[in-house]
Amino acid sequence: MTAPPAVVKRLRVAVLASGRGSNLQSLLDACAERDFPAAIALVIVNVPGDKAIDRARSAGVPVAVIDHKGFASREAFDAAVDRELQAAAVGVVCLAGFMRLLTPGFARNWAGRLINIHPSLLPAFPGLHTHRRAIEAGATEHGCTIHYVTAELDAGPIIAQAKVPVLPGDDEDALAARVLVEEHRLYPQVLRLIAEGKVRTVDGQVIIDGPPRNVPS
Ligand code: GRF
Repeated sequence: MTAPPAVVKRLRVAVLASGRGSNLQSLLDACAERDFPAAIALVIVNVPGDKAIDRARSAGVPVAVIDHKGFASREAFDAAVDRELQAAAVGVVCLAGFMRLLTPGFARNWAGRLINIHPSLLPAFPGLHTHRRAIEAGATEHGCTIHYVTAELDAGPIIAQAKVPVLPGDDEDALAARVLVEEHRLYPQVLRLIAEGKVRTVDGQVIIDGPPRNVPS
């Protein structure tokens, strides 16, 4: 007798995105795979008209457009985001090119369940214009980092990184494109590890059960 298919309980995930949403797309694509252990239950976009909205709708995922301009304070905006996340009963929130600073209170409420992708090898180059700054600094390696979000900007515990070389003659766009390929690879891999319960934090350090910290190509 053939065994019935196992009922897979997927981790419910929200993605917060702004702008072009290519990392959102990589997560949508991964979650569309049959055996992927996470499902995107909600996408939140803070700028009406952003491409991220179309990407979510095309994938049949609910989208909440929460325009930050309609709120008197960061706290009020974050409270609206929090309400949507609670209503969708998500277990993990992925920031994917979300161009709003979240308040310390929000980061505290979602501590351990809120992750971000940043386009540098943190702790190098937190903040903006990371590719330009890496070139200007003469870095020979660059890359991306996925980390837990804490109240301090781009400073939470690092979950995984992917490296690329900085090549002679690179300009900002060429380097950004090389890093972006790795971002699209790394974010779904990390989400899978989290959904499989393989990521733990001990004394502020992330421990991954199974694969090494720098996920190989
Ligand atoms: C990515 O480089 C991401 O690392 C950074 O913002 C960019 C967003 O790109 N946080 P996209 O919107 O995912 O295409």
